[in-house]
Amino acid sequence: MTVKIGMIGAGGIARSHINALKKVEQAKIVSIFDLNTAGAQEAAALVGARVAESADALLNPQEIDAVFICVPQFARGELEEIAAKRGIHIFVEKPLGLELAPVRQKEQTIRESGVINAAGYVLRYFDTVQKVKQYLEGKTIHLIQAFRIGGSHPAPWWSQLHMSGGNLGDAVTHQIDMIRYLAGEYKDVTAQFGRNSLQTLKPETTIPDAGAVSFSLQSGAVGTITESCLSTHFSGSEIKFIGADFMVNITGNGRTVSIIDNTQNITITSRQDPSYVQDKAFVEAVASGSRESILCSYADGINTLAFTIAAYQAAEKRSTISL
Ligand SMILES: NC(=O)c1ccc[n+]([C@@H]2O[C@H](COP(=O)([O-])OP(=O)(O)OC[C@H]3O[C@@H](n4cnc5c(N)ncnc54)[C@H](O)[C@@H]3O)[C@@H](O)[C@H]2O)c1
Repeated sequence: MTVKIGMIGAGGIARSHINALKKVEQAKIVSIFDLNTAGAQEAAALVGARVAESADALLNPQEIDAVFICVPQFARGELEEIAAKRGIHIFVEKPLGLELAPVRQKEQTIRESGVINAAGYVLRYFDTVQKVKQYLEGKTIHLIQAFRIGGSHPAPWWSQLHMSGGNLGDAVTHQIDMIRYLAGEYKDVTAQFGRNSLQTLKPETTIPDAGAVSFSLQSGAVGTITESCLSTHFSGSEIKFIGADFMVNITGNGRTVSIIDNTQNITITSRQDPSYVQDKAFVEAVASGSRESILCSYADGINTLAFTIAAYQAAEKRSTISL
């Protein structure tokens, strides 16, 4: 079966999906919509798709089996609900939104519709991350130490907190998600954020330039995440999982993992393109009707969003927020 795909949004991440889907045998992108028509035309030309007149026109179940929603989180409106009610399977980029109530409402509509759904927590699909998941199964982690430091997304929407959710909500969301995927659900969070550099360098922005978050998991493990989106001379990401007799370190956003214990000291770097693995898994799920290959459903992605929102609330209230 060929899975006919519509794509809403033709920016950076849409281009990445187009490249990945071009290599997925069962996938065919048939239509693309973007508010920026020139961008949509350029993307459509890459795959011989047509440019739809509107997002609503694109969501036509006579023409597409599935939709990739690649517009930023502030711009999704009711796209997921419209697609679900029309029986169109849904892939939606991370983060799922900016507030919990509308996202929970969308999840209910998606669940009731029965459509296949996936959220773009792409790092889960690395073979290296899968190896760590297997390794950590049943192990007692007591400390998690994570950071993600680097640059900002160039688009203007990204530097506005109410549109992007900031670096924590939009980029570090991958590390937040990876921690719960590999070590279990969060229990509570406390946090502080600053704008020490941005307030003078780019006063028109509203996002923090740095965050220091600490948390505990339901397992009892405790941990920290520090982050910055304004660092010219250092960038990178890391998540260390520490146990009494082992240490796992995930670097390069999941591409490289090290496992050290009494019997081994190994470092593995993945050769995979996780976007390809992710998109193939989604397309195969749509074709077969089996969701087994999807590693993050829409419902699963909600707890990752909940953590970000709780971290900002904790900072504002200067208290610990339970999840
Ligand atoms: N999974 C990942 O690793 C990853 C990486 C990058 C971005 N993303 C996510 O993908 C989403 C988009 O990010 P991006 O980097 O592609 O942003 P971008 O700014 O490069 O592109 C966004 C596109 O959406 C279009 N757009 C905006 N509002 C629209 C609307 N209402 N209807 C139609 N088109 C609209 C813009 O014209 C633009 O072409 C964000 O949610 C981001 O967090 C995920």
